[in-house]
Amino acid sequence: MDENKKLYEMALKAREFAYAPYSGFKVGAAALTNDGIVFLGSNIENSSYGATVCAERVAIFKAVSEAKKNIVKIAIASDTEDFTYPCGICRQVINEFMPEGEIILGNGSEIKVYKVSELIPHGFELKKD
Ligand code: THU
Repeated sequence: MDENKKLYEMALKAREFAYAPYSGFKVGAAALTNDGIVFLGSNIENSSYGATVCAERVAIFKAVSEAKKNIVKIAIASDTEDFTYPCGICRQVINEFMPEGEIILGNGSEIKVYKVSELIPHGFELKKD
């Protein structure tokens, strides 16, 4: 199985741990670092809806909070026939931590691969110290 398909399968597995009692829409994500470590994430909702965090951000924040900022790919999976594209806030977070990376989407039968720059062109950036 190729690397992208494998990462997508891991995102599908992570989806099982989604906490989505309000929307019923479960999402999984798998973030791969350049040293081969995979961090999984699933969406975590809250009765105060604004406190909800998407699967992609959970996976990325798990990696970054364990000193792994070198993320090269992130796969995203839900269980719809449509591909689940990352929301705007997640695109901004993806742009922060993996601007040169790739986003892998699957719908169960097909895999699509995008450069981050295709899904978030001209992302907001500040100069770093
Ligand atoms: N969601 C994600 O986890 N990732 C996305 O890319 C889109 C949306 C979640 C947030 C919320 O828990 C549910 O899907 C419905 O919006």
